Amino acid sequence: MSTRGAFIVVEGLDRAGKTTQVSALQTRLENEGILCKLLKFPDRTTAIGQMIDSYLRSQSELDDRAIHLLFSANRWELASTIEKLLAAGTTVICDRYAFSGVAFSAAKGLTFEWCRSPDVSLPAPDLTLFLDITPEAARSRGGYGEERYEKEEMQRKVREVFRRISSELDEASWVTIDAGRDLDTVADEIWSVSRPFTKGLSIPIQRLWMQ
Ligand SMILES: Nc1ncnc2c1ncn2[C@@H]1O[C@H](COP(=O)(O)OP(=O)(O)OP(=O)(O)O)[C@@H](O)[C@H]1O
Ligand SMILES: [Mg+2]
Repeated sequence: MSTRGAFIVVEGLDRAGKTTQVSALQTRLENEGILCKLLKFPDRTTAIGQMIDSYLRSQSELDDRAIHLLFSANRWELASTIEKLLAAGTTVICDRYAFSGVAFSAAKGLTFEWCRSPDVSLPAPDLTLFLDITPEAARSRGGYGEERYEKEEMQRKVREVFRRISSELDEASWVTIDAGRDLDTVADEIWSVSRPFTKGLSIPIQRLWMQ
């Protein structure tokens, strides 16, 4: 059976270092000559992404359920692209995915099951690296920005939902990384966990939350 690329997602609280680390991982992959593509959610470039962008910058108001569904739709509009890249042997690295979608909406008070349902059967990550950091440590990194969710109390609730998501997923596919350490230490650990996945996988692309 021919191999496909691995789908690697980096998740975590705001300011945990996701964008820094996906970029470091991309550089390492490229240095090894491994074909890779970096994606980021929300993808603010699409029509749906522009509605999300406006909401996050508090330039528009939307019902909590409506914005949740837009975030999910934004992942679905990229789902076939992700599948094609993986099938072509490209390693896909993704800065946030469905887990953030559930964590933020459930932290606002929507039920966990309701939040998960629109993302059920999306391409499932082969590996999720959860960058764990206390909201206090995250805040000390230059402070939160101006966007809607960047407040400590919200981040605390989001962290709790991430813990629940993690407890319900297969341990091999969800790895918690202590993101409170220095950048290179975190990057080294991410690389050692990711490396086996970058050799290509022979199992089919899995579907999220299907069992
Ligand atoms: N290990 C680290 N130690 C100290 N500072 C860090 C570390 N990793 C990233 N930073 C700094 O913390 C800030 C946030 O990093 P980054 O933008 O990568 O986080 P993020 O998780 O992508 O945040 P957001 O959720 O807001 O997109 C940046 O100023 C970055 O340089
Ligand atoms: Mg970021």
